[in-house]
Amino acid sequence: MSILQTIKSRFATALEPLTDDVGPLLDMIRSSQDAKFGDFQANCAMSLSKQLGKPPRDIATDIVAMLDVSDFCEPPEIAGPGFINLKLKDAWICERADAIAGDDRLGVEPVAEPKHVVVDFSSPNVAKPMHVGHLRSSVIGDAICRTLKFAGHKVTSDNHIGDWGTQFGMIIYGYRNFVNEAAYAEDAVGELARLYKLVNQLSDYHAAKTKLPVLQQKATQLQAELQQSTADADPADKKANRKLKSQQKGVKDTLDAIKSAEEKIAELDTDAERLALANAHPDIAKLARLETSKLHAGDADNQQLWSQFLPACLTALDRVYQQLNVEFDLTLGESYYNPMLADVVSSLKDKDLARDSDGAVCVFVEGHNAPFIVQKTDGAYTYATTDLATIQYRVNELKADEILYVVDKRQSEHFNLLFQTCERWGFQNLKCQHVSFGTVMGPDGKPFKTRSGDNVGLESLIDEAISRAGQIVAENDDNKPGGPVLSAAQRAEVAEIVGVGGIKYADLHHSRDSDYEFQWEKMLATTGDTATYMQYAFARICGIFREVGVERRSLTESAGNLMLTCPEERALALQLIQFDQAIEGVLNDYRPHVMTSWLFETANKFSSFYGNPNCSVKNASSEEIKASRLILCDLMARALKTGLSLLGIETAEVM
Ligand code: ARG
Repeated sequence: MSILQTIKSRFATALEPLTDDVGPLLDMIRSSQDAKFGDFQANCAMSLSKQLGKPPRDIATDIVAMLDVSDFCEPPEIAGPGFINLKLKDAWICERADAIAGDDRLGVEPVAEPKHVVVDFSSPNVAKPMHVGHLRSSVIGDAICRTLKFAGHKVTSDNHIGDWGTQFGMIIYGYRNFVNEAAYAEDAVGELARLYKLVNQLSDYHAAKTKLPVLQQKATQLQAELQQSTADADPADKKANRKLKSQQKGVKDTLDAIKSAEEKIAELDTDAERLALANAHPDIAKLARLETSKLHAGDADNQQLWSQFLPACLTALDRVYQQLNVEFDLTLGESYYNPMLADVVSSLKDKDLARDSDGAVCVFVEGHNAPFIVQKTDGAYTYATTDLATIQYRVNELKADEILYVVDKRQSEHFNLLFQTCERWGFQNLKCQHVSFGTVMGPDGKPFKTRSGDNVGLESLIDEAISRAGQIVAENDDNKPGGPVLSAAQRAEVAEIVGVGGIKYADLHHSRDSDYEFQWEKMLATTGDTATYMQYAFARICGIFREVGVERRSLTESAGNLMLTCPEERALALQLIQFDQAIEGVLNDYRPHVMTSWLFETANKFSSFYGNPNCSVKNASSEEIKASRLILCDLMARALKTGLSLLGIETAEVM
């Protein structure tokens, strides 16, 4: 149990005689921000005083009288209006730190009740190269899997790839009509991506041509209406003003739609060759959809093409996963569940959950306007049907207790409907959570795109990170006081660790639901809250051991001798023995940034300790104190290595 948990449980015992509802009061116990208020602070007396109608200081006195923490804390102090401040005993901190010296787990016990958690993450739609949008799911999902495993849970990572969607109809159509055989032989995925884009472009062209006159007519009408309302408007009439606003918005949206349609048309009107293609394929969108339907219905030719395309797509994905050092236990794509979909729909109907509605089969969920469509009017099953089949498989075959979906927050409506349907379908004991995340933004404050407006390819992004990291590593090595120490091969290895680690950390250290801006300089900075900083700190500590000629491994034997001679030492030791709290924090709501915050705080505490001449390791006033400080250094190195590894970030002893 973490220190904070232990303190909370002691407070629970002390508070129970005073109130029935201790939960919210326990939430008011925190680490102190300032050491002069002790190590932990509880302000529950103030809140309880309102309930009990008694002065808060008196309540604090009552709580302290009942609080039994003497085994590990100094006598509690009551401060100000009724804060209860706790200071841990130095001897107890030393004992805890000694107990974890030399331990990579930093004393974290495996959970008492392990669960089997299936983590659905990365899950790109294949047949298109992975782009920056897939980074977040891959990196966050991987960090969650690693942390769950470390905590002692059983984890199945499952890459639920989109290998059965409409994009296959498009590339089948594209392949039959426009393939460049030589390009396909050279780089199948590159050529498939080109075909996908081409079919999209031609379909969009025709759609825009059809839509444009309709939009123009609509715009004229809306503008006339707006003009009328503006003329009639009474500035004092709030309702009329609201109507005016909404009319203005209607006009703006329509004009935007016209602009986008005109752009799609202009794209081809200036490209004679493409335009000829478009004119030769007026029904391309419908025909591509037909290819998807044929594939789903078992058409032999389309199935054959699908099984020819898929391995190439998977190989391309694997290249990225290898670069990122992300592994999956399963890669069961949407196609895997195809044979189960008909049964899912009949089961939902049998249970009176789904019914026909305008020719489609839908589940209606309370509180949602849009239904959950499980079969479309043309008989096709949907993303929703597949997700239901997947849940059934994960529970019945894999015996999952919990499923996490690490997916973009724009899909939250889908997951709401999915989880509610699933509960009514009979999976009441299953815990499901949508671990949602925001968008990676470019410097213009819009979703990160290349200058030509394409998605930023993940593979090239990682390559660029490694090459930028290579410059930093080389510069750092060249500037070492005694001259460079790394061979070319070592530099390359370190560059990879730094580049990939930099991208991952930059993503993970933001709270996952917020959007963040992709910034190379910030992400690879050697100071601040970055992987690079932590990685260099790790190597520096390994360097201290090389300098003093002590093997880090040998410290386990000298454990039992930690001494706290200055406040910085104490603060660092106290932080290090709370690694378990960081793990709990990450798993509480699946938020890896709790770990990056812990690492950053720990690194700062280490800097204060190491930068203080009174805490010198090499010039310690006695051999005992030196040994004690080396134990702290070693624990720090382990904390960095283990903490980063749970985020999927590697370290190197020499950089
Ligand atoms: N392939 C989907 C997409 O790219 C994400 C799948 C997420 N997982 C799931 N079980 N729905 O949007």
